[in-house]
Amino acid sequence: MAILITGGMGYIGSHAVVELLEKSEEIIIVDNLSNSQISKLDLLEKITGKKPTFYEVDINDKEGLNKIFNNHKIESVIHFAALKAVGESVEKPLKYYENNVTGTLTLLEIMKEHNVKRIVFSSSAAVYGIPSKVPITEDMPTSATNPYGTTKIMIEQVLKDLYASDDEWGISILRYFNVIGAHDSTLIGDIPNGIPSNIMPYITKVATGKLKQLSVFGDDYKTHDGTGVRDYIHVVDLVKGHIKALDKLRIDKSGLLIHNLGTGTGYSVLDLVNAFEKENDIKINYTIASRRPGDIDACYADPSKSKNELNWQAEKTIEDMCRDAWNFENNLK
Ligand code: NAD
Ligand code: WQD
Repeated sequence: MAILITGGMGYIGSHAVVELLEKSEEIIIVDNLSNSQISKLDLLEKITGKKPTFYEVDINDKEGLNKIFNNHKIESVIHFAALKAVGESVEKPLKYYENNVTGTLTLLEIMKEHNVKRIVFSSSAAVYGIPSKVPITEDMPTSATNPYGTTKIMIEQVLKDLYASDDEWGISILRYFNVIGAHDSTLIGDIPNGIPSNIMPYITKVATGKLKQLSVFGDDYKTHDGTGVRDYIHVVDLVKGHIKALDKLRIDKSGLLIHNLGTGTGYSVLDLVNAFEKENDIKINYTIASRRPGDIDACYADPSKSKNELNWQAEKTIEDMCRDAWNFENNLK
């Protein structure tokens, strides 16, 4: 029996493929390569010694998905495929609703037709909008400040309604905080398109000299040093959370689970820059700039529900994240 991984060629999905192949799971990747490269397949094989089955198929292609479900005995789906650029989602909302929401509906329809009722879904801390308090617990209200976040809220609602209609489904909704770092092989990591908007890929590009200077967006937030505070989590810790969630769904047979995947510790932008400089012995040229519209003071998880119910907690430190992100970037040069 195989696990179907949508978006398995992307940043987080490829790390999940590695962890699962190393656990001798049978993996089938579905990805339309809209934000990834076919060369990733060779890297996955180089790391694990195994070649996953790959289909270049869009999750909106119902017939394409149907063939895959006919060809393989699929027991579970881990659903990473999505567009994720917050700024682009404001400019092109229809593209985001079509890709993320309609694509998920198509995937769920095919799963239902083939009686595959177990899914782990990539949600986001974006569903907490402007949180009324930190640390954030899963029972806090959801809201979104951009269409990308709204797609995650809409898909969560679809999954809740699906479970309410048929409690044979096993559904795990995982809300990720700020994912950074890379596999310690240095072969896979985060490769954003164009100039990065997220902080860690920006820092590593400044470290290489490809970008001149980091703009620190605002130093007048209500945080210990005035810069924005986030919960940075290592991508390998994050994917281990998926394996724990999948294990729980397999044991429980069915259920609807919602969990935060974060470390529970908030670091400011300057904390992150300082940790990067110290760990890698490199100076990061930065300047204080004005606030980025839509940014919030602080966002970090209360991960205790994940610890209690999934027996999962993040293990890697901010130093590990800084080292691995830099080693990956260096290997790209
Ligand atoms: P990514 O862009 O690196 O990977 C997504 C993959 O999905 C890409 O390979 C892309 O080609 C593929 N894809 C996109 N639309 C598709 C479609 N319609 N059909 C088939 N394949 C498609 O992104 P990532 O950082 O690995 O994110 C994975 C998931 O995690 C996404 O759902 C994202 O919203 C979510 N997430 C990411 C973060 C983060 O910090 N990176 C945080 C919270 C949530
Ligand atoms: C982190 C901190 C910035 C860039 C986004 C999405 C969220 C989730 C994760 C998918 C903030 C500061 C950044 C820079 C800076 N993605 N910063 N200079 O905004 O917390 O979350 O990615 O679900 O939905 O919104 O992440 O990495 O962009 O910013 O000072 O050049 O770094 O202001 O405080 P963010 P980020």
